[in-house]
Amino acid sequence: MARIPAREPPRLAKPVDDIPSGSLAALRREAAGCRRCPLWRHATQTVFGAGPGGAALMLIGEQPGAHEDLEGRPFVGPAGRLLREAIAEAGLDATGLYMTNTVKHFKYEQRGKARLHRRASASEQAACRPWLAAELAQVRPRIVVALGAMAAQTLFGNAFRVSQDRGAWQALGTGTRALATWHPSAILRMPSPGRERARRELVADLTLAAMALT
Ligand code: URA
Repeated sequence: MARIPAREPPRLAKPVDDIPSGSLAALRREAAGCRRCPLWRHATQTVFGAGPGGAALMLIGEQPGAHEDLEGRPFVGPAGRLLREAIAEAGLDATGLYMTNTVKHFKYEQRGKARLHRRASASEQAACRPWLAAELAQVRPRIVVALGAMAAQTLFGNAFRVSQDRGAWQALGTGTRALATWHPSAILRMPSPGRERARRELVADLTLAAMALT
């Protein structure tokens, strides 16, 4: 993928005043000690984004799950498997992408031995926005794909509905285009035949992103 960075950092729907600066490695180190919201207390570690700093395409998920919490990398569990298959079917190379999440800590409720996923609250999402803004400012991707409602609303505003608005290009400041698609975890939870259709739509949306890079 050609490295022609966006001229300006891609903007989020709500302005972020305190965007941390520094290289991705420095940001990752700083985020490892993040105390901007209470989620760090029970999580194993911060799950910062992963991938080349020169990536032309950034994928943004929602928040790490139990597998990501233990491994410290985004999309390494069942949703990640589905996503990586869809990436390959779209003709993209997963190692050339930058993958990250809107919220960087696992949120869960302990039930016996199980850690049940809980959605990050609006204030936890807001507390994490500076890290996403910092990743966007450093990587300056030309194309961004938001996976699911949390990422899509962080990029495009709270009125955005993935079910209605997915697969449509939006401008994200100067030089970056973005679209939203289904979150792989949501696809895994859907009953058939909706699941197969949503999976095909995920591949189709990632194919649009792949074509936009050529
Ligand atoms: N779901 C996400 O949104 N991100 C991950 O990293 C894993 C599951």
